[in-house]
Amino acid sequence: MTRREQELGYPDEFADRLELIWGAGFLSPGGPEEIRRILRNTDVQGKKVLEIGCGIAGPAIVIAGEFEAEQVIGVDIEPQLIERGKSNVTAAGLQDKIQLQLVEPGPLPFVEASFDVVFSKDAIVHIEDKLALYREVFRVLKVGGAFIAGDWFASQNADELPEFQQYRDLSHLVFSMQTGPQAQALIRNAGFEDVRLNDRNAWYAKFARNLVERIEGPLRDQLFEVCGQEGYERLVKVSHANAGAAECGGLRPVHIRATKPVSAS
Ligand SMILES: C[S@@+](CC[C@H](N)C(=O)[O-])C[C@H]1O[C@@H](n2cnc3c(N)ncnc32)[C@H](O)[C@@H]1O
Repeated sequence: MTRREQELGYPDEFADRLELIWGAGFLSPGGPEEIRRILRNTDVQGKKVLEIGCGIAGPAIVIAGEFEAEQVIGVDIEPQLIERGKSNVTAAGLQDKIQLQLVEPGPLPFVEASFDVVFSKDAIVHIEDKLALYREVFRVLKVGGAFIAGDWFASQNADELPEFQQYRDLSHLVFSMQTGPQAQALIRNAGFEDVRLNDRNAWYAKFARNLVERIEGPLRDQLFEVCGQEGYERLVKVSHANAGAAECGGLRPVHIRATKPVSAS
């Protein structure tokens, strides 16, 4: 890897690998099916949606295409992802509905009350100052608007679980995982009401173990081609550790849903 690539969380080769294992356009597990599940019970049709951490646009394409949002603005901090995302949006014929924008980490570059829905999938885990983020989400949402996300949480005892620690140490990504009670408190503190969390650990533990089998089985040759022998062996190791972190209960994907109250007007 070049020096620049080492500084990126998701350089091209890593994104190629994630697309192979998680599906075209996706840098997070579950593909379109998990996006549908997160958005279940959310009225997105005709709405203006902000996606934080849009990656290479898989989720935005589902939100604009299948869920018929009027407009999706996706923001991300990695330029190579925005460029790949734009190509995917064009290939899907959704360039009139989806705009992707490179941003700096920190305050969102939008005026208050700009969006009906703020969505995010497995990106908040990379953002350290969660309260500042939740306050920004609150600010840019319209009154009555919905904050809907999937994110990677840790159990309260995660630091005592060797399997969890092993995964965190092996992954090159920088994680800042919150626990369920921390998220509840911070999201409320930002001003939201009706904060609901849906724990997806049981699903993910099975999914991650099945993924290890696919990586060592049907996906092996393709992955070998993309990452070479050393990269493939490392991927197998990290995937085992990831499944172990979920199976021991430390790694807990969670769906988040909260509302900006009408009293906030
Ligand atoms: C696991 S990927 C998920 C991408 C996409 N949501 C998906 O599900 O395919 C996490 C994404 O969050 C982005 N990210 C990390 N920190 C961010 C920040 N402070 N603001 C916006 N995006 C960020 C990364 O660049 C990456 O695209």
